[in-house]
Amino acid sequence: MAQKLFAANWKMHQAPADAAAFMRTFTDQYARQQDRRVLFFPSAVALHVVVQAIRERADLEAGVQNIHWEDKGAFTGETSGPLARAAGARHVLVGHSERRHVFGETDAETAKKVVAAFRSGLTPTLCVGEKLEEREAGETLTVVTRQLRAGFQGIEPEKLATAIVAYEPVWAIGTGKTATPQDAGVVHVAIRAELRAMMGERGGAVPILYGGSVNRSNVDALLAADEVDGVLVGGASLDAEQWLAIVRSA
Ligand code: 13P
Repeated sequence: MAQKLFAANWKMHQAPADAAAFMRTFTDQYARQQDRRVLFFPSAVALHVVVQAIRERADLEAGVQNIHWEDKGAFTGETSGPLARAAGARHVLVGHSERRHVFGETDAETAKKVVAAFRSGLTPTLCVGEKLEEREAGETLTVVTRQLRAGFQGIEPEKLATAIVAYEPVWAIGTGKTATPQDAGVVHVAIRAELRAMMGERGGAVPILYGGSVNRSNVDALLAADEVDGVLVGGASLDAEQWLAIVRSA
């Protein structure tokens, strides 16, 4: 059975001391389960604390929320893939909707970051998702497919097969609105078809996460939807008790 993935995106929250307290509570109360992996995406300043807290736990992994596409250089304020990897990250979020829509990241930049992630030995989680006006205009699958193709452009199928995809409808992020399991399922099925078109049978094994206002009350229904292999959670991952409830679900 494929493992389910539960990924916490802490965004711009959790100082190192908060992250340490959270991880103590979490690791004390969460015993390894063979059928799931838990990923943490703390802010860069709390990465070290999380890496230390999980160093004896193969079922818990850490990553960064963004990288620059260059490996090094005069890029004040940026973190590179090699720096993140050296600090213990194994994963990176690429093309999160806040990167795209708050910071103006383009499909082309997202693609360069996916290349940089693989070059640095990080597993990219490519985030895709439509805005409300795009959904209302019936463009959801067009947008998601475009973001997927652009983000993974030029990557060999063997590498792509190790990536993760997250579908996060922009209108569902931080709004308390979730896609219904049916609506999420339609998009996940389309993403799965696209992944198979890109890399053949290997595309069947790439985890596709759902994100957008996931919480302990809706997680079971979302995980039961077609081709939903896990969840990427913002707000509800900030509270250790709620996060414990989510990772124990399904
Ligand atoms: P919320 O769970 O706060 O809606 O955030 C979702 C998200 O953007 C995760 O990457």
